[in-house]
Amino acid sequence: MSRALPQPATLRPVEVAAPERFAHSESRKAMFRLDQDMIVTIDGPAASGKTATAEELARVLGLQVLSTGAMYRCATAIAMEHKIAREHTFRLLEIVRKSHMHFNWHAKTEEGRPSPEIIAFGKSYAKRITDEEVTSNVSEFSEVIPLRELMVGMQRDIAKAHPRLITEGRDQGSVVFPDADVKFFLWASPRVRAERRRQQLLVKKGIDRDLGELEKEIAARDENDRRKPYGALVQPEDALSINSDKLDLAGVVALMRDHVLAKARA
Ligand code: DC
Repeated sequence: MSRALPQPATLRPVEVAAPERFAHSESRKAMFRLDQDMIVTIDGPAASGKTATAEELARVLGLQVLSTGAMYRCATAIAMEHKIAREHTFRLLEIVRKSHMHFNWHAKTEEGRPSPEIIAFGKSYAKRITDEEVTSNVSEFSEVIPLRELMVGMQRDIAKAHPRLITEGRDQGSVVFPDADVKFFLWASPRVRAERRRQQLLVKKGIDRDLGELEKEIAARDENDRRKPYGALVQPEDALSINSDKLDLAGVVALMRDHVLAKARA
């Protein structure tokens, strides 16, 4: 999962005014209320910090949060456990359906951010999905179009059941929720993402990678993601683009929070 941004200074959660203080809106698209249903999407390239940003923004705005990368990772972990190759689409879809993949919506990070825990076959896959083995195979599995269609359907069902939602992943604003109330496109240059990734590997795993090599890998992955036939990396036209090269997590979240508040009042 993308957790590349530094830890934030704490932002105070937004206080939502009582419902009667808001005027009724003509259309949901033109105006939405902070205390009612809203879908916020965060698209962007790999390792741009989408997951941590979405979780912190969810905490600040009092919304729920969906990491769609966790779903692709969980499907990959399940396939690997059952020794199903990505070419065996029928068996892959069958086992993923049978797993009853879902989230424990009450889970939080140590910092108190909402961070739903992914469950399949009745057990937590939260740790398993961060394994190197899963990380290095998930990109291939996420190219399987019928699997993407299944995931997109599940994501839309999740949004129906959890209608106050921040959802992050490459295709959330562009494909899955084209009518989202607020859309963001979060990115950083390959150099900065490589620096963050290098630091993360050093601190968490004691691995010292060459910066230039990491940068090349990240740029190549972006290029590959832009060419995907389905769910390609694109910036939705109506998304606010945020370059986090010079911002830490708190800075990005403050920008996003202000944008959501401004749109809610518009
Ligand atoms: O954000 P992440 O690293 O957890 O994503 C894991 C993989 O799944 C990564 O290869 C991108 C892919 N993915 C995707 O294709 N579509 C999404 N909506 C989310 C993630």
